[in-house]
Amino acid sequence: MPQAEDWSIKNLLEWTASFFEKKGLDSPRLDAEVLLARVLKTTRVELFVRYDEKPSDDARTQFRELVRRRSAGEPTAYLVGKKEFYSLDFEVDSRVLIPRPETEELVLEAIEHIKRTDKALANDGADSRVWSICDVGTGSGCIAVTLAKYIPNSQVVAVDISPDALQIAQRNAQKHKVEHKITFLEGDLLDPVSLDLSEERRFDIIASNPPYVSESEYARLETTVKDFEPKLALVGGSTGAETPVRLVQQVPERLKSGGRLFMELSPTTVGAVAETMKKDERWTDVEIRRDFAHIDRFVYAVRK
Ligand SMILES: C[S@@+](CC[C@H](N)C(=O)[O-])C[C@H]1O[C@@H](n2cnc3c(N)ncnc32)[C@H](O)[C@@H]1O
Repeated sequence: MPQAEDWSIKNLLEWTASFFEKKGLDSPRLDAEVLLARVLKTTRVELFVRYDEKPSDDARTQFRELVRRRSAGEPTAYLVGKKEFYSLDFEVDSRVLIPRPETEELVLEAIEHIKRTDKALANDGADSRVWSICDVGTGSGCIAVTLAKYIPNSQVVAVDISPDALQIAQRNAQKHKVEHKITFLEGDLLDPVSLDLSEERRFDIIASNPPYVSESEYARLETTVKDFEPKLALVGGSTGAETPVRLVQQVPERLKSGGRLFMELSPTTVGAVAETMKKDERWTDVEIRRDFAHIDRFVYAVRK
């Protein structure tokens, strides 16, 4: 660390960014800024305006502790207790997966489908509808809350097997003022959702980012994921595809005819899941899509 008299915000950031770089972190400067902004209860932009300010001894002690934990691999999102997803802040801690940018792509796809359909209905002079959506494995609630927030005419069911995750998802729903639009259910995949749904009570959309990592991939995951994020949120069975395949077998009985599944997977599981669906005559238009990094990532399909 610099000499005590040199502990300005500027020097703290430069020293920490260089320290994180030597530790091999992916975004050393960004991490340093996010952590210091957290300690000083300010924004990253505000740090630049206050560059020459010298934080108090107490603030520096708190910052040093966060720097130590970050350099040991703990994700920045857990250290600051939040992660931005689709321009909304989500509370996170080690009981839920940190929302990923790939999942924003899935949400974007679902929102675009809804907006396109609503526009076509309006052009036909049809009454507007309420979209009934289910998010399976909701975790922090990032999919359920974002859809409830950005689709005003929606009602959402969010399921998770982890009561801890459901608690956090509920807090995020409250934070974004959509708790009245979301029903939270605890249980295994779609088990908590009745099987005897009449056609009009079935879902229009089922979205899911289920656990899809295999046991062997899990063993090789980087420390920052494996040692800190919940295994329950990551491992989908010995090949990784077991949980997603179980889910796609349960979905058709809860989806309306013409309803859609939006599912995030990994390049190693997407093929097996799509194959299972193609063999099942209840599905049509089963499509594997790539993410922005050109990696096979999503299965989208329509219920016949
Ligand atoms: C990959 S995380 C996704 C979390 C969140 N939807 C997201 O995209 O960030 C998978 C979630 O599924 C939950 N989960 C795992 N197995 C489950 C099961 N059998 N039934 C319901 N939820 C499950 C985990 O607790 C975790 O919250």
